[in-house]
Amino acid sequence: MTDITRRDLLRSFGAVTVGALMPFNALRFRHAASVPDVEIALTAAPADVRILSGAPTRVWRFTGRVLKGPAESLQTMPDSYLGPTLRLRRGQTVRIRFANRLPDPSIVHWHGLDVPEIADGHPRLAVPAGADYVYDFEVTNRAGTYWYHPHPHMQTGSQVYKGLAGLLIVTDDEEAALGLPSGEQELSWVLQDRRVDPKNQLVYSTAMMDMETGFLGDRVLVGGHEHPVFPLATRAYRMRVLNGSNARIYKLAWSDGTPITVLGGDGGLLERPRSQAFVTLAPAQRLDMWLDLSERAVGATLELRSAAFEPADAGTVMGGMRMGGMMGGASGLPLGAPLSLLTIRVARKESVASRLPDRLIPFDRTWTLATGSPVRQIPLAFRAMQWTIAGRQFDMGAVAADETIAPGSTHLWEFVNIGGAMGMQMAHPIHVHGRQFRIVHRSGGNPANTLREGLVDDGWTDTVLVLPNETVRVQITFSRHSGLFLYHCHILEHEDMGMMRNFRIS
Ligand code: C2O
Ligand code: CU
Ligand code: CU
Repeated sequence: MTDITRRDLLRSFGAVTVGALMPFNALRFRHAASVPDVEIALTAAPADVRILSGAPTRVWRFTGRVLKGPAESLQTMPDSYLGPTLRLRRGQTVRIRFANRLPDPSIVHWHGLDVPEIADGHPRLAVPAGADYVYDFEVTNRAGTYWYHPHPHMQTGSQVYKGLAGLLIVTDDEEAALGLPSGEQELSWVLQDRRVDPKNQLVYSTAMMDMETGFLGDRVLVGGHEHPVFPLATRAYRMRVLNGSNARIYKLAWSDGTPITVLGGDGGLLERPRSQAFVTLAPAQRLDMWLDLSERAVGATLELRSAAFEPADAGTVMGGMRMGGMMGGASGLPLGAPLSLLTIRVARKESVASRLPDRLIPFDRTWTLATGSPVRQIPLAFRAMQWTIAGRQFDMGAVAADETIAPGSTHLWEFVNIGGAMGMQMAHPIHVHGRQFRIVHRSGGNPANTLREGLVDDGWTDTVLVLPNETVRVQITFSRHSGLFLYHCHILEHEDMGMMRNFRIS
């Protein structure tokens, strides 16, 4: 495995100005001189994995190996197409040697982490088939559930769909002091819907309607398995849930009406746990939850479900209307269809008292609402058969004046979901690279939209769901890392069709 050469570097930067290369070289030099705490080899390659009974499924998969540092830095997901879970500690310096052994260009993005420009996986940095790329960054994020996935131009949707994704868990002392369930009492569930043909092969489509709505599967896999059963003990558990689906929104609820105890979201734990009937989880979002099984009888079962919701609560699309009002593409399950995702079976008695802390991580007191600051309005609209963001489409190197930001500065961005002609409207999960941000205010939208009640809006987040006709204001203190970063819709088909823009920190 070799470091990216200067020639590769120039090639991958393409049209980017020479000035933009300076920080890269400076950074390479600094890191070359320093020894990282953790070094991981991460390879993306085709593989055959048994997902359903019968024939194995051809997937694209990340595999990894710890080259230096604690062996627990990497945990393989057994029998899964998912990449290994990276477990990193806040403060660690990390080097990841990515080897692209796919037949297509690719690049990896560390979703939710605040990293230097050259480690962020921007599509202009994609390396060709067979090439390598070295990432160097320091983990500065709070403890939380993050993830990684490819980000090549117009191929993010298909590459994630084929299986390229993994969790990245950050731990720190502050969180460890809470003594939350860990080890076997900590579960990770990655939700991804897929369409599978009679030969067990994945089906993906970039037909206009699938791009408009986002691609929807006909079944949901949890950690790469269809409806898994978890034999658990009569004690408390912590579950980390990632919606790793390309386009599907889940309305997560326990089958017996037990409320969901929310510990945290995208950017780590909340100030205190909260309990709600269900949780709306949009693509790319994470949920950290607590479940106490200590009062349950051995043999009892409990399902995690996605409860039914009105398809119109997630949007109304012209193509969908042509198909009779169902946003389900050609054969996928429509958005809002009720789904049973997994079963928990209480398999054994274990009397271990575990108490849910009533306070988790204190609110960052340095955070203040930038009340006087100007608000940048960012329309989310469908125009000329394309989803657009801020009235524009993605353009590899382009940055507009209103997309230029001073390092470390605080801004109010307001996403205005205006849709398009003929009632074309969709909920868009909007993701901003780099810093976790706060949701300040939500207005408009349909008050009867049940998805709204399930939102967890009071923690740190990197992906905010903007429901049909809503206006959502967020406050972001941007990274001190200068360079070109992305903000986009995380319905991956919307992202691939150009509902994405750069911002430049300079
Ligand atoms: Cu999870 Cu720009 O992506
Ligand atoms: Cu991201
Ligand atoms: Cu979108």
